[in-house]
Amino acid sequence: MAERNGISSLKVVSRKSLFFLFTMTSVLFIMSWFFVLRSTVPPHSIDHNLLPNSKLLSTLEGSKYRMQKQNVESSFGNRAILADSEDAEEDRKTEVKEKLVKLDAGKCNRNYESLLKVFMYDLPPEFHFGLLDWKPSGNSVWPDIRNDIPGYPGGLNLQHSIEFWLTLDVLASEFPNATKARTVIRVRNSSEADIIFVPFFSSLSYNRFSKGKPQVKKSGNKILQEKLVQYLTAQEEWKRSGGKDHLILAHHPNSMQEARMQLWPATFILSDFGRYPSNIANVEKDVIAPYKHLISSYVNDNSNFDSRPTLLYFQGAIYRKDGGLARQELFYLLKNEKDVHFSFGSIQKDGIRKATEGMRASKFCLNIAGDTPSSNRLFDAIASHCVPVIISDAIELPYEDVIDYSEFCIFVRTSDAIKEDFLINFIRGIGKEEWTRMWNKLKEVEHFFEFHFPSKENDAVQMIWQAVARKVPPLRLKLNRFGRFSRSPPSTDIGLKSIPLPKNFW
Ligand SMILES: *[C@@H]1O[C@H](CO)[C@@H](O)[C@H](O)[C@H]1NC(C)=O
Ligand SMILES: *[C@@H]1O[C@H](CO)[C@@H](O)[C@H](O)[C@H]1NC(C)=O
Repeated sequence: MAERNGISSLKVVSRKSLFFLFTMTSVLFIMSWFFVLRSTVPPHSIDHNLLPNSKLLSTLEGSKYRMQKQNVESSFGNRAILADSEDAEEDRKTEVKEKLVKLDAGKCNRNYESLLKVFMYDLPPEFHFGLLDWKPSGNSVWPDIRNDIPGYPGGLNLQHSIEFWLTLDVLASEFPNATKARTVIRVRNSSEADIIFVPFFSSLSYNRFSKGKPQVKKSGNKILQEKLVQYLTAQEEWKRSGGKDHLILAHHPNSMQEARMQLWPATFILSDFGRYPSNIANVEKDVIAPYKHLISSYVNDNSNFDSRPTLLYFQGAIYRKDGGLARQELFYLLKNEKDVHFSFGSIQKDGIRKATEGMRASKFCLNIAGDTPSSNRLFDAIASHCVPVIISDAIELPYEDVIDYSEFCIFVRTSDAIKEDFLINFIRGIGKEEWTRMWNKLKEVEHFFEFHFPSKENDAVQMIWQAVARKVPPLRLKLNRFGRFSRSPPSTDIGLKSIPLPKNFW
């Protein structure tokens, strides 16, 4: 017995020391790699490429030259349409951000190399500004946006107006005195471009033309999509890559419903993947953009945990077609709670005013999946500094590779949320300190969801472009792999025509 014990303790000892040895060796190995890497990557190489973080950092760094920029910007500052922020607030936010991102001051290396190079098709106006009732004069298919910016229709249309802001940003990049704080530059030679941009205002096309006239079989929206497919597939640029380096807007969940089945090799800008099969759109290939919030930004928010009387706020349609069952369940679970506002009705006209007051007076704002996993409500909540409570298992969030939403949103699984008392107890359990931390974070990030013209440092327009830029390296990898045999004579062996592609290669 004693002997056995001796042997087993010996075993333990040697196992322990082996384990120790192994751990130490691994740690040393990893550390040595770390030092090797650090010493071999020259610092300047970080400024000049489109690597995810460097891109973001280089633009964050740009806030340092805000002062220089302002002079330039003021020349068309007054023309900022639909934008509703104030400069004082802007400066405060920049300050906060500077504290947040402790980057070296100094160089602002936003040279040509670090910009996203965009080739934009000169599509006929019927695909873009023509939808805003703009009429071309002369040969140009684009309005001269230095003098006249066609207005985008208001109301609910605005939430999907991403197409408008991105296109304006590309056009503005060509002005001789464009602001330095930009992320994109338009190039005229498509071979030099990182991405080929298709300026079709597809959300507006859906909103304006999806209802066919009684006697007409095909809606105007379908006809435009057909024309777009014809146009694109006839272009050299499309043929060269099979569309893989194209960027197409389809922010409204119902937009591009026909064309996407033919144009799916491209990268889409979407609000979520709710209505897409995963081979047509997915998180690797595509870019999620925020909705433009309908509730105006809460400038000079002096509220706090105690001054916001409503615990939890929800305003929206309670009964929805798809996936919205949770709304009904939650309504019955929460309707008797005194400090919960849960009411019917979409936000239009007077609704906007009421929702603004309601969200600003609430600590938490509910986002429950409706027809689609996403909605503008999340972005309204962020703009109101009302901590979002997200109950939508399939939601996709903009720029989630660089933003950790759990710092300022509460996520609850739908299956949990509809358990009796689960949600209300959870929310009541979040104290003043934790709430205040999230509220402060909301004020730091809100800028990432604001659309401006001209675009501003890390506003929604630039954050979307940066997200596109982060798609470029994997896209190039795929294109280059795809093109390995492009100089070889055509293969006679069917089986060897292409290199075997990994799963999910689109
Ligand atoms: C910049 O733009 C403004 C307004 O469009 C114009 O008046 C000014 O001359 C421009 N400056 C330069 C240096 O191009
Ligand atoms: C476009 O760019 C490519 C690659 O840089 C170059 O070879 C080509 O000559 C350019 N075409 C024109 C028309 O400048």
